[in-house]
Amino acid sequence: MRSDPPTPPSETQLRQLLAAALAVRHRAHAPYSGFPVGAALLADDGKIYAGCNVENASFPVGLCAERNALGQAVARGARRILAGALVCEGEPLPCGMCLQALSEFAGPDTPLLLATPDGRKRQLRLGDLLPHGFRLQRS
Ligand code: THU
Repeated sequence: MRSDPPTPPSETQLRQLLAAALAVRHRAHAPYSGFPVGAALLADDGKIYAGCNVENASFPVGLCAERNALGQAVARGARRILAGALVCEGEPLPCGMCLQALSEFAGPDTPLLLATPDGRKRQLRLGDLLPHGFRLQRS
């Protein structure tokens, strides 16, 4: 059985996503990189889940903002991500690990708003950034 394609998020929801990502970025724990990141995800329950990067003195232990937001959403029962927003300096783009993590719960047409704190922004699809995500297939 196939589920219906999710309805695209409204302009209001996209604005709210961006605001949530911008706000949570201020909570980032990024003393090692000095690079705070905020992410927000709109889930199928209509709620917005936000996360920031959480670094650690043991550098590889650090967590990206997107996967933090995803953990918040899944822990509260969400199973489908309808849109995402990412805010950081420079050229905001989710890392490969976060794209793979998102692809578990979002489809290739899922819109991702990529923005800087000073208001530059663009919108891409998850499938633009991760055209060939890994899927577990056993023969
Ligand atoms: N970072 C994220 O939070 N998301 C990404 O997609 C890429 C990088 C964080 C990890 C680290 O805390 C800091 O940005 C610098 O790499």
